[in-house]
Amino acid sequence: RRRVWVSQPLFDDIVARLDAHFDVIRTAAVTRHSPQAIAAALARADGALVTLNDAIGAAEVAGAPRLRAIANVGVGYDNIDLAAMTRAGILVSNTPDVLTETTADFGFALMLAAARRIGEAERWLRAGHWRQWSFDTLLGGDVHGATLGILGMGRIGQAVARRAAGFRMRVLYHNRRRLADAVERDCRAEYVGFDDLLARSDHLILVLPYSPQARHLVDAAALAKMKPGATLTNIARGGLVDEDALADALAAGRLAAAALDVFEGEPAVNPRLLALPNLVLTPHIASASRATRRAMVALAVDNLLAALGYGPDAGKPPTPLNPEALAVG
Ligand code: GLV
Ligand code: GLV
Repeated sequence: RRRVWVSQPLFDDIVARLDAHFDVIRTAAVTRHSPQAIAAALARADGALVTLNDAIGAAEVAGAPRLRAIANVGVGYDNIDLAAMTRAGILVSNTPDVLTETTADFGFALMLAAARRIGEAERWLRAGHWRQWSFDTLLGGDVHGATLGILGMGRIGQAVARRAAGFRMRVLYHNRRRLADAVERDCRAEYVGFDDLLARSDHLILVLPYSPQARHLVDAAALAKMKPGATLTNIARGGLVDEDALADALAAGRLAAAALDVFEGEPAVNPRLLALPNLVLTPHIASASRATRRAMVALAVDNLLAALGYGPDAGKPPTPLNPEALAVG
């Protein structure tokens, strides 16, 4: 029988769909696999179900002659060297669409929490500081009617923009490619340059994919161009932001607040961030509703089965990233 490696415990009832066709090598507990352990697991596998914890490049698949498909459970795939997988004839898939609305909900929640100081207020109340109601406790900034800046206008960015309409926000965006007119109209979003986005946004949200070229795109220089008193929300990847520069901007009061779901060294969090009050911190859970996390695993399993030749989509995985790899294999 062919073999599939599942790198993390996922939803057993969904992963069980693989048992009909494969010997499934499961991982009992959440594990940060070493590169050597990943290489060893892939060496004997025909397919793999992996997550953003698993970094897979040329070295990890060099000794994996049978490997034909990797299904990443997540929309971002900066953990996988796609070009190297294509050269090796390994089809890679991700899980777009099923997480778009859930992730946009969370991005909006974080932006609201940062602007209205919800995390700070809750910590203050729990710490017993609330002695009497007073008029000027924890004054924040408004979200409704403000200008929202969206950096990265893919599916999730567009879903954030659609929510902003209900808050009567003005929506600006910057993206490598400008959207088609009809999509811009549907999102009520206006295309601007990167510097304009920084200068004009009251609330800036990052929703772009990570690549090494985008590392620290939001650095000290970019933060200095932001509107004084603005907020920054990141639901994309931690490496997009220079966290020390962000800590400086928050400590100096240049930015009113920030909200981060992702961190450059996660799960480790820069201690300077942990020490700042005007910062909302969550452990990379933007797509983590029960229904959506199940839908992500189901889509990854669909992709794996189809890439390895089973099911109604045999040979045509629903969300491939490098369909050209099938020709190489
Ligand atoms: C999570 O960060 C994802 O990319 O799905
Ligand atoms: C990213 O790929 C997105 O869906 O916005």
